[in-house]
Amino acid sequence: MVGNTDIGYCRADFVGLSGGLSYLDTASSAQKSRVVIEKMCSAMEDHYANIHRGLYRNAQITTQEYESVRGKVAEFINAVKPAEIIFTRNTTEAINLVATSWGGQNLRKGDEVILSVMEHHANIVPWQLRDGITIKVVPLTAQGTLDIEVFKSLLSDKTKMIGLNHISNALGVINPVSEFIKAARSFNKDIKILIDASQSIVHTSLDVQAMDCDFLTFTGHKLYGPTGVGVLWGREEILNAMPPYQGGGDMIETVTFQGSTFKPAPARFEAGTPAIAEVIGLGAAIDYLRTIGQDSIRAHEDKIFNYMKAQLQKIDGLTFFGVPQVGIISFLPTWAHAADVAMILDKCNVAVRTGHHCCMPLMAALGVEGTIRASIGLYTNEADIDSLVHGLKKAKDMLA
Ligand code: ALA
Repeated sequence: MVGNTDIGYCRADFVGLSGGLSYLDTASSAQKSRVVIEKMCSAMEDHYANIHRGLYRNAQITTQEYESVRGKVAEFINAVKPAEIIFTRNTTEAINLVATSWGGQNLRKGDEVILSVMEHHANIVPWQLRDGITIKVVPLTAQGTLDIEVFKSLLSDKTKMIGLNHISNALGVINPVSEFIKAARSFNKDIKILIDASQSIVHTSLDVQAMDCDFLTFTGHKLYGPTGVGVLWGREEILNAMPPYQGGGDMIETVTFQGSTFKPAPARFEAGTPAIAEVIGLGAAIDYLRTIGQDSIRAHEDKIFNYMKAQLQKIDGLTFFGVPQVGIISFLPTWAHAADVAMILDKCNVAVRTGHHCCMPLMAALGVEGTIRASIGLYTNEADIDSLVHGLKKAKDMLA
């Protein structure tokens, strides 16, 4: 039901939470619902076979299930067609694919790639591996958001690619990527734009056509699906102009010792036997989310997020970072080391992440080595937040 915030019943679907764990590390990796686990077991037990190869029944069933997920993902992000969906191992591999294939073909010495200071290492390091390019960085404003005015000033005739994080995994801020994309398009419509949607796919509805980017990446395991499967969406004409990322079976049209020809996307970028059960599991996760309804999930998450923010603000001696808007809050106690606090939280059966959250440049900009990060999902309830608050108070009593 749209707008229904009472989705508490979902919690029972998540076997990993049955022991009373307050799991506040969903931004790192989400717990899995029973339907995802059962669907993956069925893919491996009931009709397992390799895909795109055999003519026998199980091969046909498994191929059909695998390919149907491409359609589900396309619909989920409003892609023009399923062929624009490439299955990768995770977001990291999706960005490496673009940096290596598109970057290898299009980036020359002196070309510029603009990234933001909020990027995850996965959207920094692949670009650093391209020789001879210059990386320019969008900084934070004094308020802790991305500085669009500096961004506009960084655009130049050497800018070839812009890579932006949609929701910061470290800060929970929603970056206004559409405004950045509009500014880039009005400067030069040929600049390519990649959006890292690893967190926003979990908390918002995405529409790649409305967003007007060229590439969008996310991973399955944060979206309540399994590890080992990620997604690269790209515009069909761009994908088909890109060289293969890896070579092998299933991505070729013909092979001789004199050379090979390649299928168009998506097959061109899916060399070898893929993560079959994992892709099917991702499809089950998307079905599950659509059954509950993304609006209902967001309404529930907003309620829990606001509760978490209000409760944490009542604790003395916590410093908060950025402008958290959805799902994620980063903070540090002034009275103890973050790692000591996290260990006491663990004793209280509360799981949070501490450290740099794979965002070392962002931590440097904030002037810290790391933070404590609490992140919620559709299964989080107020009792989880109460356990976090209880654990923090206990840590303060012990360490302050
Ligand atoms: N990117 C994941 C996180 O934010 C691993 O924790």
